[in-house]
Amino acid sequence: MRIILLGAPGSGKGTQSEAIVKKYQVRHLSTGDMLRAEVAAGSPLGRQAKEIMEAGQLVSDAIVLGMIEQRLVNNDTRGFLLDGFPRTLVQAEALDALLTRLEQPLDVVLFFDVDYEEIMQRLLARNRSDDNEETIRKRLQVYEQETAPLRQYYDNKGLLRTVKGVGPIDEISTRIFQILEEFVPQTAKAG
Ligand code: AP5
Repeated sequence: MRIILLGAPGSGKGTQSEAIVKKYQVRHLSTGDMLRAEVAAGSPLGRQAKEIMEAGQLVSDAIVLGMIEQRLVNNDTRGFLLDGFPRTLVQAEALDALLTRLEQPLDVVLFFDVDYEEIMQRLLARNRSDDNEETIRKRLQVYEQETAPLRQYYDNKGLLRTVKGVGPIDEISTRIFQILEEFVPQTAKAG
């Protein structure tokens, strides 16, 4: 299966990725995790990304596309789960071009519907370096401007499915699995 998780910061993409990967063994590709690994390693890319992430801004499309392309080109047959990518129209269009070239069309884009008040509470209760109130507001603003338009983009392609992202984590996972069952390859179901 080839899946994108779309949603605001704190909408539960990372949390639900764990459940999806456990059930369907798809490969989890989180650009946020990749960037945090670069920051932790103190690499040149990480040093460049650190300040941008702590300000709640987006790292450049070129950097993120480079990281993703490398991994998708080397992907195995498990399929993939993109978490936090794409986040801009430029990224979405570049992803389309890459997947066309690789003959790996997307199956579904899951949009996590969570209101901003709930998001603020969740993120303030966490302790990541970009989870202070000012940065969260900036991340939400950037999300509105740059990422929210992707809902329409994928809806126009007939790929978008909305999941209510509020409530107990396992109930949300169950809602997601109900949708994903439609996309499990027949051979996997038979096996
Ligand atoms: P990234 O790591 O992608 O962060 P984000 O999108 O801001 O998402 P979060 O990890 O905060 O939230 P989430 O939706 O994964 O929710 P989670 O499950 O963690 O990106 C970080 C930064 O990297 C960006 O700001 C940007 O600078 C850069 N970046 C990354 N990708 C990029 C790209 N493609 N282009 C450019 N720049 C990029 O849950 C959040 C909290 O809520 C957790 O504490 C969790 O336990 C809790 N929670 C989850 N579900 C529930 C629930 N149902 N009820 C109560 N609490 C819950």
